[in-house]
Amino acid sequence: MPSNRTLLIAGNWKMNNDVAEAAKLADELAEALSEVPAGVEVLVCPPTIDLTTVHQRMSAAAVALGAQNVYWEPKGAYTGESSCAMLKSAGCTYCIIGHSERRDYFHETDEDENKKAAALIAAGIVPVFCCGEPEEVREAGTYVKHVTDQIRAGLAGLPIESADQIVIAYEPIWAIGTGKTATADDAQEVCGAIRETLADMFGAELAEGIRVLYGGSAKPGNIAELVAKPDVDGALVGGASLKAADFASMVVKAGE
Ligand code: 13P
Repeated sequence: MPSNRTLLIAGNWKMNNDVAEAAKLADELAEALSEVPAGVEVLVCPPTIDLTTVHQRMSAAAVALGAQNVYWEPKGAYTGESSCAMLKSAGCTYCIIGHSERRDYFHETDEDENKKAAALIAAGIVPVFCCGEPEEVREAGTYVKHVTDQIRAGLAGLPIESADQIVIAYEPIWAIGTGKTATADDAQEVCGAIRETLADMFGAELAEGIRVLYGGSAKPGNIAELVAKPDVDGALVGGASLKAADFASMVVKAGE
């Protein structure tokens, strides 16, 4: 985390919390996050059905709102989907795309993520573009190529003109929800390679400003060592973002 990038601590609630539960967690978070440390930005990404409730409950807090998915078409007969304009009208300024759970369970491809990223950028919503390797790729030792290939394909041709138009999240699949966190050195190795790839694609100056997060069993006990690494600019947090005290503690520890 060099001094010119604002850290981002982002919570991905995944498919957890109905509307009443989301309202309760949002109220708890608004209270726990009444003071966000300087140099840290906070983002919560609830399920689509909870976005409006969380937006209303957290309107006074310095917390950004993000969605977990989007469809690239502007409107029409796409049952079950939400457009960029719909997310924007619900208060979203960010949207997670390309999460490994979307790629694995819903068969999303790099081409899909590329279309989603382009639509979001055109709408002024910041994509949080996820990438990461499965365990067998880690064991085969080809994980850097796997991840940088996802970046090259997913971000190909995007009209990125300023570093705040995109966020990358490196989430090794073997570390998601498993309690098996990558070491801070593992995270740095891949986040550094992602930044080099971004520099190659968009120029060194732009790449220097783009936030690259780590995700996968990030928690209060390991956030400080992760963000101490030069190319790790925060975390995309699953399980620990569902407890207000844990998530708020991560925000505080990241800012120390
Ligand atoms: P966990 O923090 O539960 O491992 O989830 C990480 C993740 O997938 C965030 O998007």
